[in-house]
Order: sequence, then C-alpha cells, then structure tokens
Amino acid sequence: MITLSVTSSSLDGAYETPEQRVAEKMVSVRKAEPKDAEAAAEVLRRSITELCTLDHHGDADTLAKWLANKTPRDFLSWLAKEDNFCVVAEANDQIMGVGLLHRNGEVRLCYLAPGAQGRGLGKAIHAALEEKARAWGLKRLHLESTVSARPFYERVGYRSAGAAKPGFGISHCHPYEKMLQPPESEPTASGGGQTRV
Ligand SMILES: CC(C)(COP(=O)(O)OP(=O)(O)OC[C@H]1O[C@@H](n2cnc3c(N)ncnc32)[C@H](O)[C@@H]1OP(=O)(O)O)[C@@H](O)C(=O)NCCC(=O)NCCS
Repeated sequence: MITLSVTSSSLDGAYETPEQRVAEKMVSVRKAEPKDAEAAAEVLRRSITELCTLDHHGDADTLAKWLANKTPRDFLSWLAKEDNFCVVAEANDQIMGVGLLHRNGEVRLCYLAPGAQGRGLGKAIHAALEEKARAWGLKRLHLESTVSARPFYERVGYRSAGAAKPGFGISHCHPYEKMLQPPESEPTASGGGQTRV
C-alpha cells in the first residue's frame, strides 16, 4: 500500500468549488476488493463522463459504448481474474481513483474522480501498477491513452507507440509504451515509486 498526503495548497485554479476541494487528508493506494465495486464503478463513470470530454465531446452514443462495461458487476468480474491487478486510491473511506494492470503489461484503467486530479494520485496509482509489473517480471508496459491523459503518461515515462486508433464511438485511443528498466538504472523523471505530496 502506498500512502501519500494530499493538501489543498497543491490545488490549482481548476478546482474552484468547495465540494471539489479535498482538504488535507491521507490518500492510500491499495489493492481493490469486492466491497469497492459500486464506488469504483461510479468513479470510472464520472471520470469518463466529466473528465474525458475531449474524447467523447458529449456524444451520447460514444458515452453509452464507453460506459457499457463500467458497472459494479463488470468490476467484480475483473477482480475475479488473476491476470488482473486492480488498485483503488482511497481517502477518508472514499474511493477517488481506480487503476488496473493486466498481466500482459497493459494498463487498462487509470481514472480519477472529478476534482481529484493534479495532486499526485494518478502518479501514485501508476506507481502501484508499475511495482506489480516489476513483481510479475514484465519488461514493458503499454496502454491506450485518452487525449487528456497524454501529458500525464509522457510525464511518468511513456513514449508514443504509434498512430491514434479508433476507440469507442467517435473517440480515438493513443498508443503508448514504457520499457521497464532494472531499479538501479531507473531515471528519476519517470516517477517510479515516487509520489508528489
Ligand atoms: C490522467 C490522470 C489519471 C492523471 O492523474 P493526476 O493525479 O491528475 O496526475 P498527477 O497529479 O499524478 O500528475 C503526475 C505528473 O503528470 C503531470 N500531468 C498530469 N496531468 C497533466 C496534464 N494534463 N498536462 C501536463 N502535465 C500533466 C503532472 O504535472 C505531474 O508532473 P510532476 O511529476 O512533474 O509533478 C487523471 O487526470 C484522470 O483521471 N484523468 C481523466 C481520466 C483519464 O483520461 N484517464 C486515462 C485513461 S487512459
């Protein structure tokens, strides 16, 4: 489990309303459990609907396709597969983010609740997935990024791995990959297991 302190002082102007603000609190990233299913599915749905607008542009058909498997039932089925490693970021018993790594090296989920971005939670979730990838002996991580997450993945050490591909409906996926180096040669800029607090 990774624990980090998140403070309201690190918020930028994107989070204006009090209910969007997260006051100083400890956030832990831990392995997901079946009891998280409902809250985790809700985080995924809200993250896609509210934060991925550059991808779906509010297109109803695109959203319907994208959200179709973001249900508590699907989440439970993902947890039941031993080739999946799923984590949640939690603060004050509230799920604020979800990450999922498949044993083939694909990062399949990395989504935060609206209002939780920009304070290191995504990096902490990714660090937990990367740690598991290393434990599995993987040499390479890969994923298909949303438009808005591209700078984030580039910051945590990914490089573009090809042209954009069709995604759900009108959206496009942007392929990325990251080669995993042995710990002693890990460049510090990749983020590794570090978390910004
Ligand atoms: C993408 C996402 C997970 C990133 O999480 P986050 O908590 O906002 O990112 P962090 O605060 O951990 O940022 C880590 C680093 O990336 C940088 N970064 C993150 N988003 C950035 C952006 N949009 N533009 C530029 N840099 C960005 C941060 O500045 C930080 O850099 P630093 O290590 O030098 O401080 C989150 O914004 C999110 O859930 N987005 C919507 C859902 C989505 O698109 N998920 C990806 C699915 S493929």
